[in-house]
Amino acid sequence: MSQAQPSVSILCTGGAGYIGSHTVVALQEAGFRPVILDNFRNSNRVVLDRLERILGSRPLLEEGDVGDAAFVEDVLRRHRPAGVIHFAGDKAVGESVAQPLKYFENNLGGAISLLKAMEAVYLGAGGDKGALVPRFRGDDGGGAGDVAVGPTLVFSSSATVYGDPATVPITEDFPRSHTNPYGHTKLVIEDMLQAVAKAQPAWRIGILRYFNPVGAHPSGLIGEDPSGIPNNLMPYVTQVAVGMRPYLNVFGSDYPTPDGTGVRDYIHVTDLAAGHVAAVRTLLARPENFTVNLGTGRGYTVLEVVRAFEQASGRKVAYQLVDRRPGDVAQCYADPSLAKRLLGWEAKHTLQDMCADAWRWQSANPQGYAG
Ligand SMILES: NC(=O)c1ccc[n+]([C@@H]2O[C@H](COP(=O)([O-])OP(=O)(O)OC[C@H]3O[C@@H](n4cnc5c(N)ncnc54)[C@H](O)[C@@H]3O)[C@@H](O)[C@H]2O)c1
Repeated sequence: MSQAQPSVSILCTGGAGYIGSHTVVALQEAGFRPVILDNFRNSNRVVLDRLERILGSRPLLEEGDVGDAAFVEDVLRRHRPAGVIHFAGDKAVGESVAQPLKYFENNLGGAISLLKAMEAVYLGAGGDKGALVPRFRGDDGGGAGDVAVGPTLVFSSSATVYGDPATVPITEDFPRSHTNPYGHTKLVIEDMLQAVAKAQPAWRIGILRYFNPVGAHPSGLIGEDPSGIPNNLMPYVTQVAVGMRPYLNVFGSDYPTPDGTGVRDYIHVTDLAAGHVAAVRTLLARPENFTVNLGTGRGYTVLEVVRAFEQASGRKVAYQLVDRRPGDVAQCYADPSLAKRLLGWEAKHTLQDMCADAWRWQSANPQGYAG
């Protein structure tokens, strides 16, 4: 794939976080100019040093809160991004049950503030009626002449919006529901985006429903660095392997799955990052909104992940089987064919790659960025 014009900025809210930092690498390698907007409420400034080591130059940073519309508007006016990827938000399911207002405030408040700022800059009175970007054809990143595009947004949604799916694999037209405040915020933001796109057809909006992002950049310099006890399987497994935690609790061993443990669709974070680049290119190439699953289409049980990780790391992962966790579903994996058709994207990495890269990151950074 040829390079996009380096003058084309893409603003990444939450770009210092796990998925955002990997996407910043992918954007810059694809020839875009990523700009990170983050307030570091769930990330570490060290990530900027690590990104500089990977990329050979320090990514641009705008430090502040996405919930501050005046700040976001100022950032948009100064950088004139052709597109915005909205990663910023809180993401811990359990915490959202305990502290729902924190989630409604930060996730909904952040999205509303960003949308208002984008509307003011790109569509409002005195707005410039869109960003001028090189003509994108999607496949090659650019062509002759510039073209104005309306406000362009990619949103980090989640497979959690499918609630407890009746069947698998999951296609995008499955009914949506929520089982916790975190999932509820994703659902409401999706609805908000649909309403905005309907009211103002100039918007170009891509909603990406991630399945289970795992792994790390192959350099081992950036990766997932959860604060406190990890909510997700892979960082828990890596922390057991590195000796930070004594054993893994496997919640439920009586599900109707090959070994009784839950099945999930794990996707390498660098594949996910590539999915964002494909989404941005697609939106800049044609005025069409979309909602797509980003997953591999293949599910693995918890015990399959444990075994694959033991193989990749050469370490034993102690675990104990405990009761099911309320709200967990037996099986959840994507039908990713729409993303392939619309974005020309598909996941490439295997579970072995995911485990090897997760281990490289964790073993080189046992305490995460703080170490
Ligand atoms: N990691 C997953 O398993 C997963 C799955 C599905 C969807 N998502 C979604 O993807 C997005 C990114 O997830 P992640 O795993 O990289 O999370 P993360 O916590 O590592 O990154 C989020 C980033 O946003 C920043 N942030 C949060 N609120 C902010 C605010 N008000 N202003 C500025 N910055 C703010 C944080 O400091 C952090 O750097 C989130 O919206 C999350 O809900 C994640």
